[in-house]
Amino acid sequence: MPQPGRVIISEAELQTRIVELGAELARDLGHERPILVGVLQGAFLFMADLIRATPIELTTDFIGVASYAGGKSSGQVRIVSDLSVSIEGRTVVIVEDIVDTGLTLTYLKRTLEARHPRSLRVCVLVDKVERRTVDVAVDYVGFTIPNVFVVGYGFDYEGLYRNLPYVAALEGE
Ligand code: IMP
Repeated sequence: MPQPGRVIISEAELQTRIVELGAELARDLGHERPILVGVLQGAFLFMADLIRATPIELTTDFIGVASYAGGKSSGQVRIVSDLSVSIEGRTVVIVEDIVDTGLTLTYLKRTLEARHPRSLRVCVLVDKVERRTVDVAVDYVGFTIPNVFVVGYGFDYEGLYRNLPYVAALEGE
């Protein structure tokens, strides 16, 4: 059974960088009352910390997508739980845990663009840039990491380890 091993991003590093990201969002979107759209399940911890680091008027919603089974990319993305509000005319920020191949984000951006937001930005905690197969623009990036499968701070392996307060490599596969 694979286990969380080497720490890739410590709890302190996460919190420091998220405070910076929150300040960037506040600076760029301070007067636009954005809606931050968290991508379930992975981004829920990041979302909770990010909004508390963004001292502006904002609203939140969540969208659930399924793209992975047991840690491997299936290349298939679908919405399993949709937004609860309209985003037409709104300033929207997608808050995602990770960009890996880029397939999930490409699908999400296309889907949300079709709903005619005023603008659509993307904020990701972790970018695995080496693994990209489709080119997708990301506006705010927390950390760039090498090609390792990570768990913790929202990231899971078969549903486990989301509750670790840091990001670790999954070892012993
Ligand atoms: P993409 O479509 O390949 O960019 O994958 C994005 C999704 O894959 C993320 O939302 C995660 O759910 C999942 N994912 C990719 N890499 C990892 C990882 O290292 N740990 C946990 N989940 C991952």
